[in-house]
Amino acid sequence: MLFKGGSLRDTETIALESKLNHLVDQLLHHPVYPCINSLETLRLFMESHVYAVWDFMSLTHALRRQLSSRGKLWTPGASPRHLRMIYTILMDEETDTWEELDGKRRVVLSHFELYLKAMDEVHANREGMDALLDTVQSTGGDYFDPSAVTGLPRGVASFLDYHLELVKEADLARIAGAFYFGREAILPDLFERVIAQPWFQQNKAPLFVTYCQHHVHLDGDVHGGMAEELFEYACAGDSEKRHAGLLAGIATLKARQRLLDGIHQGIQKMQTVSGEKTKGNPTLLVQAE
Ligand SMILES: [Fe+2]
Repeated sequence: MLFKGGSLRDTETIALESKLNHLVDQLLHHPVYPCINSLETLRLFMESHVYAVWDFMSLTHALRRQLSSRGKLWTPGASPRHLRMIYTILMDEETDTWEELDGKRRVVLSHFELYLKAMDEVHANREGMDALLDTVQSTGGDYFDPSAVTGLPRGVASFLDYHLELVKEADLARIAGAFYFGREAILPDLFERVIAQPWFQQNKAPLFVTYCQHHVHLDGDVHGGMAEELFEYACAGDSEKRHAGLLAGIATLKARQRLLDGIHQGIQKMQTVSGEKTKGNPTLLVQAE
């Protein structure tokens, strides 16, 4: 995927877009994807990635707050068209409908809650995420300092830190930039790369695959275009706002890179430890799951 704006772009915009595209290319060729090829490695991936699934909702609601009436009593928003887009995205992400495995009924769940079910399905450890949710709920949704949370997987604290700061700062162009460049535009390609690994054909993680496929289609076909239009609206033809949004896009992609680096290092460490344990018994090293 390559990002390029309209014809009226200043040199700063062109330079920032070029940086952004370079980062997208690096993320799409990250060495972690082929390593997600077993239940153990998928668990490790999900135990970090779940935090990004969670903070996406805070980012999306931050965008909604910027576009809708902000007071306790309602007044019309500046652009009902763009407000409708964010409500559509929220309805899909926060209250999606899913067919139960027996195929007899549909249930309503957020993508985050489906992701938790997908973690349970592969027996991934969700204690850290559950504890964080308890903390947020007990404080009525107050901000917290991710670096003060103990036990977060490598790369997660800085990822959360960047996005919670964006939510707190409440700048429309920067939130819309992170939302478009760092989420809706790039995630279909990333998820496609994850589930393209042959291991997923063994059908050992059907809910995770459903989650990824759903995003490939929903974000690729619907949300990506809406997020792009929301970003253009947020820029309002103002080059400074566009630069701010592009810089937020660059920062969020760098945070994603650190998150994937952390997962990759975790997998390598796990494989080194299991390799050490199986030394002297070489058949175990190639044993298929
Ligand atoms: Fe989406």
